[in-house]
Amino acid sequence: MAWTAIGLAADVPLGEMRRFQWEDEFILVYHLEDGWYATSERCTHQDCSLWDEGELEEPEIVCQCHGGAFDIRTGRATRMPCVFPLDVYHVRVNGDLLEIED
Ligand code: FES
Repeated sequence: MAWTAIGLAADVPLGEMRRFQWEDEFILVYHLEDGWYATSERCTHQDCSLWDEGELEEPEIVCQCHGGAFDIRTGRATRMPCVFPLDVYHVRVNGDLLEIED
């Protein structure tokens, strides 16, 4: 396992999320009171972008396309019509950098 830098931690203020490119996809990184979290960026219901259509309502990301939601700490679908989980990633701050574990 290795850690890959994806951006600057300072670009994600407390209580907010940002989208970053990682490998050949986008992921969302969340900066919460209790730490940093990262999930895939596409809703598992009908593939809406959670960056464009998602609303951060801690501890959930709510997809405005059809009202589904996910727990950002686990990726678990928490509201219908979402059933399948988001992918989740290990994220850490190393100096100024945000890093994702490969
Ligand atoms: S695409 Fe997200 S709830 Fe339908």
